[in-house]
This record gives sequence, structure tokens and C-alpha cells, in this order.
Amino acid sequence: MENRRYEGIGSAVSNAIANRFSRGGAPVPAPASRRIDGKVCLVTGANRGLGKAVAIDLARRGGRVLMACRSGHPEAGEEVRRRSGSDAVEMRKVDLADLASVHALCDRLDHDRTRVDILVLNAGLMPARARRSAQGYDAMFAVHFLANRALIDRFLADGVIRPSDRRGETPRIVFVASETHRSAEPIDFDDFGGFADYGLRDGLKHYASSKLHVCTYAQELSRRLNPDGEVRVAVHSLCPGAVSSDLAREAPWFLKPLLIPVIRLCFAAPAKAAAPVTHACCSEEMGRRSGVYLHLMREKPPAPLATDEAAGARLWRESEALLSRHPPPASHESRNASGAPE
Ligand SMILES: NC(=O)c1ccc[n+]([C@@H]2O[C@H](COP(=O)([O-])OP(=O)(O)OC[C@H]3O[C@@H](n4cnc5c(N)ncnc54)[C@H](OP(=O)(O)O)[C@@H]3O)[C@@H](O)[C@H]2O)c1
Repeated sequence: MENRRYEGIGSAVSNAIANRFSRGGAPVPAPASRRIDGKVCLVTGANRGLGKAVAIDLARRGGRVLMACRSGHPEAGEEVRRRSGSDAVEMRKVDLADLASVHALCDRLDHDRTRVDILVLNAGLMPARARRSAQGYDAMFAVHFLANRALIDRFLADGVIRPSDRRGETPRIVFVASETHRSAEPIDFDDFGGFADYGLRDGLKHYASSKLHVCTYAQELSRRLNPDGEVRVAVHSLCPGAVSSDLAREAPWFLKPLLIPVIRLCFAAPAKAAAPVTHACCSEEMGRRSGVYLHLMREKPPAPLATDEAAGARLWRESEALLSRHPPPASHESRNASGAPE
């Protein structure tokens, strides 16, 4: 059993800085020559931070980029168009903390007969204290995990993502997780989806737990979509390392004077931190494999808790049961119900 240790904000920040500057940790970007012309890429949380940098990179490489965002309409889309030099950038509205909004996004993509080749599940948050999603779940559990499960179920059922049939190119699903998942306690299935009213001190613990859900789900999804070892959908997860983004914007006022300068000075700029994401999205090799976990550009196994097959299967069942309480609207008609894994 791995030695799990709860991290406070101080040690999390110093670990992040140490990782960033450790030997071999510098991301080597996928060469700009690697094109993805015409591929449809959907990036969540693309209006700022890492997601915006990923959207710019994918658009520069020729992808048609759908920015699935809660805010930043339309200015973030205009900025990505300008900075990438591509007009093939569109925004889609979604609040991932509301399953009704997740279904509305799915309805729109289904209605438009959109087919997504590269899905980047990047949106994330680190609230200063516990907050409920629209359906009453913990906001980090809802945004980092539950919304992604709901999106993927719908995309597969609707044919928005179609597992490759050997002739076509393999679609990819990339989860932006975090190394903090290694410090999480095992998932509490006895109180699955339960809400805990934590404050600042335990925020990181719940962040780590939500990212353990993500890593465990990514491994289970990879197994289910590629049961015989042949890669029909490439599913990867990763930690981008310490990113100079707005993730700490909800930090309390007394921490900000210390935290913000450290983040700005010591954490990687989003354009640099995007390298492992674009590697997972674009490199030929990552399209032929599935279930890879990257920390920066280094491949390593995720925590044993995340690769535990019994935990993965249980997570699948429990989240399926949870989501069955929040079904898609009655008007929704699946155009390809056979694509969803059982
Ligand atoms: N920063 C780091 O050091 C670090 C390290 C490891 C992993 N990560 C992960 O990297 C990912 C990107 O984070 P970041 O660092 O770029 O942070 P960021 O600058 O705060 O960006 C987070 C993005 O997620 C979106 N988001 C949050 N809640 C949402 C919701 N309910 N519905 C739709 N979108 C929502 C935000 O949208 P709004 O603008 O509307 O809030 C924003 O676009 C996250 O998954 C994070 O956990 C970050």
C-alpha cells in the first residue's frame, strides 16, 4: 500500500515547485509540425489558464476547437482565434457544476451532429471552502468527476465520440488530473457523492480525492473501451505540474500576498504547461496507446488506488447509479445507443 500523506497548502506548493525544476521535468512540446488539420477538439474550461493555452495550441495545429466554457463568452474565443491565427474556434456554453447544463451541451452537439475527435477534460477549481453543485454534490466532485462521466456517457451514446473501427483514426479522451491524487484516501463508497462541509484546512484533501476519482475513472474507462487490448479510444490522464493560472483565485485574502507572487514567479506559464496535454492529444504514439498517465512529460503509473480494478468497477457502478437520478431530458433521442460501454 502506498504511503499517503495529507498535504497542506505549503507543502503542496513546495512540491509543485520542486517538480517543476527537477531534472527531466521540463516539458518537451510536441513539434509544431505535428498537425491535426480538421480534427474536432472539445476543451472544457478553455476560457483561461491551462485550457486556454491548450485551445490555442490545438487551433494552431489545424484543429477545429470547441471551447466549452462557463464564462468568457465571447472574448475568450476571440482571443484564442487571434492568438492561434485560426478562425476554426467556437465557444459552447456549459456549467459543469450543473448536470442540466451538461445535458444541454450534449443536446446541442448531438443536434449539430458534431463528432469530437479529441476531448480534453480540463475544467477545474479549488474553492476556499465546500460548495454545492446545482444538484447538491460537492463542487469539485461534480466538476472534476461527475460532469465528465455524464459527458462521456452521452458522447458515446449519441455518437459524438465514436470508437474507431480500425479504418478511422482513434478518438482521444484526455483528463487533466493532478499528482495530488496520490495523497488521497481510498474512495469512500459507503458515502459516495456525499457532501462534507469542509473549510480551508481540508480543501486540498478534497481536491486530491476528486482527482483520485478522475484517475480511477480514466483507468476504468480505458479498460472498458478497449477490452481486448486493441485501442478504439485512447484514454489518457495527466498532471501538468505547477501552472501559473487562476486556480488559486479563491484563496483567502491573507494567503494571496504570498501565494500569487510564488505562483507567478515559480509556476510554469500555461503555454509551457500545456505540453503534456498537447502531447497526449496530438502525438501519433499516444493515439496507439491507452491508459497512460503523464506527470509533466514523464510517464509513470498513477497511484495504486487508481489502477485498482475492483475500485474502478465500483466507481463505475456507483456513479452510474448516481447519474441515473439526473437523466437527460425526455426529449433527448440517442442517435447511436450502441456506442456506450456497458
Ligand atoms: N494550476 C495548477 O498548478 C494545476 C496543477 C495540477 C492540475 N491542475 C488542473 O489543471 C486544470 C486547469 O486549471 P488551471 O490551473 O488552468 O485553473 P484556472 O485558470 O482556474 O482555470 C480553470 C478553468 O476551469 C473552469 N471551470 C471551473 N468550474 C467550472 C464549471 N462549473 N463549469 C465550467 N467550467 C468551469 C474555469 O471557468 P471559469 O473561468 O468560468 O471559472 C476555468 O476556465 C484543472 O483541472 C486543475 O485542477 C492545475
